[in-house]
Formats: sequence, C-alpha cells, structure tokens
Amino acid sequence: MAFRILFVCLGNICRSPLAEIALREETTRRGLDVQIDSAGTGDWHIGDPPDPRSIAVAARHGSDASLLRARQVQPDDFERFDWIIAMDRQNFADLQSLAPAQAKAELRLALDVIDQRKGEGVADPYHGDDAAFERTWAEVTAIAMAMADEIAAQTKG
Ligand code: 4NP
Repeated sequence: MAFRILFVCLGNICRSPLAEIALREETTRRGLDVQIDSAGTGDWHIGDPPDPRSIAVAARHGSDASLLRARQVQPDDFERFDWIIAMDRQNFADLQSLAPAQAKAELRLALDVIDQRKGEGVADPYHGDDAAFERTWAEVTAIAMAMADEIAAQTKG
C-alpha cells in the first residue's frame, strides 16, 4: 500500500498546498509510491483554491496548483495517514491537541527533515509579497527533496 503523507498549515492555501505539489512531483519523478494530501488547522478557506500568489509561484516553477481545494484537518486524518507534517510550530501544537490518544500517524515538523533547520517553521507568506512566496517555494522544494530521500531509503529492499 502506498505511504500516505498529509501536510498541514493554518489556512491550507499557501504553505501546505505548495508542499503537497512539490513532494508529489518529486516522488513521481523518482517512481515512489506515495499518496500526498494537505489540510489546514483553520476553517476559513474550506473549498477554496490556493491563494492566487501560491498558484502564481507554482506556475513560475512549472507546476499547477490551481486544482487543489482547501480542507480542514480532521481527527480521523491521524488514522488515514502515516506522517502528518506540520509546516510550523504553532501548526504542530494545534495538531498535538487534535490528535486522538492512539494515533497511527507520526506527527512531524516539516523542516526537521533538513539537519541545519531542525526545529524551525516554514514562515507564513500570507501577509508577505511575491518574494515571500518564492522563499516558501524554495523551502517546500528543499523539504520535498529531503523527504523523498528518506522515503526512498525506507522503502528500499
Ligand atoms: P497558510 O497561510 O497557513 O500557509 O495557508 C495562511 C492563509 C490564510 C490565513 C492565514 C495563513 N488566514 O488567516 O486566512
């Protein structure tokens, strides 16, 4: 069965949808059997496409984020996914509060996969400019690369 990964940020319109498509493209490129989704801890944007600036930064890098739709994280996500990846420390704390006592999913902080950035959060670009979205794209692609390395190592042999 495919390995299942859920990225979670606050609104599910900026950071986590970009992480979702970055990891989907990286794992597809490498032929890894991984299912990827994203969600928000908040409910403001349920059903919305990603922020136009998220769609734009993805398009500048040759990726299409326009078909994604925001949803809110649910307690049963802790049963449906192997990893739940919090984009920042507040998301991590909110997810800890939401997690059922016997959660299957392992809760992780996104940048922990990069040794030099352990413990850090991916900054929220929502109140920023296009440059902030470019920084988010650079961070989620670095995370996707490191995570794909880890998945490839785990699923080998
Ligand atoms: P995200 O960014 O958590 O990376 O999707 C945000 C999007 C929307 C809001 C906050 C952060 N908001 O307050 O609506």
